[in-house]
Amino acid sequence: MNLIIMGAPGAGKGTQAEIIAARENIPAISTGQILRDAMAAGTELGKTAKGYVENGDLVPDEIVIGIVRDYLKSDACANGFILDGFPRSIAQAEALEKMGVVIDAVLSIDVSDDRIVARMSGRRVCKCGASYHIDYKPSKVEGICDKCSSELYIRADDKAETVITRLHNYHAQTEPLLAFYNERGKLIRVEGQEEVEDTTRLVREALAKVGGR
Ligand code: AP5
Repeated sequence: MNLIIMGAPGAGKGTQAEIIAARENIPAISTGQILRDAMAAGTELGKTAKGYVENGDLVPDEIVIGIVRDYLKSDACANGFILDGFPRSIAQAEALEKMGVVIDAVLSIDVSDDRIVARMSGRRVCKCGASYHIDYKPSKVEGICDKCSSELYIRADDKAETVITRLHNYHAQTEPLLAFYNERGKLIRVEGQEEVEDTTRLVREALAKVGGR
């Protein structure tokens, strides 16, 4: 299955991408995580991306399109993939089409802005990429990653004012993609629930209709 997951910042894209990836045995490609890894490693990509990401703005299209093009060529994606956080603009979606990539479905997880702002304050992340929530998905030991035992921290772009900027950019630049993919008959919408398991169940039911397990 070649799947795109869309949704506002904090809608639960990464959480659901990880669950679907494990079930379908396909890789989840998070452009946000790739950029954060590059920032942590201090690479040229990371240095370029840092200002945009920390301000809550989109990284320029040509940079992210290049990253995704390289990933999709790799053998790991031969049996399918999940794109988490890409495309995020019409230009990115058109670039994906030009690559000749066939997308089976575009899953949008819908969560209201009010709930997003409240939810983001509880997110804790690990340098290994794992993500938790202090109420909805707590780690086994408070402040420590279940997967690698490192200390959890708050993402630099999860500050309340940055979340507002990210939401603004989502509505202005990314939301038009819902119509883009609806016109192509690919869009599936799921209402994000208060509990992760409830969203997971709805996502699974929705994907079963397009060949998901
Ligand atoms: P990215 O990392 O993609 O950030 P985002 O889209 O803002 O999404 P998040 O990772 O914040 O949230 P999510 O929807 O994955 O939710 P999560 O599952 O973590 O991108 C970061 C930045 O990189 C961008 O701002 C931009 O600068 C740049 N970038 C990335 N891609 C780009 C692109 N294509 N073009 C240009 N720039 C790009 O869940 C959030 C929290 O809620 C967690 O704590 C989780 O545990 C909890 N939670 C999840 N589901 C539920 C639920 N159902 N109930 C309660 N809590 C839940």
